[in-house]
Amino acid sequence: MKHALSISRLTKRFLVQGRNLIALQDINLSVAQGEFITIIGPSGCGKSTLLRCVAGFESPTQGAIQVEGQKVSRPGIDRMMVFQGLDQLFPWLTALDNVAFALRVTKTAHGMAKSRALAREYIGLVGLTRYEDFYSHQLSGGMKQRVAIARALSVQPKILLMDEPFGSLDAFTRKALQEELASIWHKTRVTVLFVTHNIEEAIIQGDRIIAMSSQPGRILSVIDNPISRPRSQESHEFIEIQETLHRLLGIQKSPSQELLRPPQRPVPFEEVETPHLVATL
Ligand SMILES: Nc1ncnc2c1ncn2[C@@H]1O[C@H](COP(=O)(O)OP(=O)(O)OP(=O)(O)O)[C@@H](O)[C@H]1O
Ligand SMILES: [Mg+2]
Repeated sequence: MKHALSISRLTKRFLVQGRNLIALQDINLSVAQGEFITIIGPSGCGKSTLLRCVAGFESPTQGAIQVEGQKVSRPGIDRMMVFQGLDQLFPWLTALDNVAFALRVTKTAHGMAKSRALAREYIGLVGLTRYEDFYSHQLSGGMKQRVAIARALSVQPKILLMDEPFGSLDAFTRKALQEELASIWHKTRVTVLFVTHNIEEAIIQGDRIIAMSSQPGRILSVIDNPISRPRSQESHEFIEIQETLHRLLGIQKSPSQELLRPPQRPVPFEEVETPHLVATL
């Protein structure tokens, strides 16, 4: 069976100041079409690196990534990314034209009229019809993220990559956007990889939750989420998964359920110098 996404034996090392830093080690993951996967783990465990490898912004040191059976070797519009930062939009374009522009450059829609008509549908999907003529500086943080989601979805990617997309938003806006994303996902059935630091968010959104460890970044556990949507945080199963994640990630329960960022520790360098550098010494 062809998976929407298949990651096999993925290892990613970076060469930093002459030493090998292992960001990801032996990651294996298969994702079915339409699955919503959340990824959680401490700062520096390689969550963004994993998304960047799937996006094709980084190439694996070892292992392979396939999307519907095709090897990923470069970025492509079949994998679109939404980031945490609230400055992802082109400030000189309106909300509508940010989406329309993406449609034109990717040749998803041709010409101004067609691209704007299609962009209007996606702006509607994220509930921003009344704000389509607003520029970035006239939109709230939540609205900006909605436009970024509309823009990413408008080119109809096979996989939507979301790197802490609600991480810069206040608790109320985050909750509203979580609900909205769940409803958009329900309508589009796009396959999603969603990185978060928030345990509740990981359980609310994820059909499967990937817990990662750091130094080096590995998958600690893949948790199936049997709770039907919309997921009640009061349910016995929710609390059980919450406790499992706390145990796995080795953290104390905090009122906000946010993962506490650990103190900065030395990066996970391999012991051996690379042959290339040894040769130049
Ligand atoms: N381009 C790069 N060059 C060198 N090292 C990198 C590069 N990108 C990431 N790293 C290193 O890889 C490790 C994983 O980084 P990554 O950004 O993937 O972590 P993360 O889990 O997303 O962290 P956070 O939760 O803080 O966003 C870190 O030690 C980081 O320093
Ligand atoms: Mg990150």
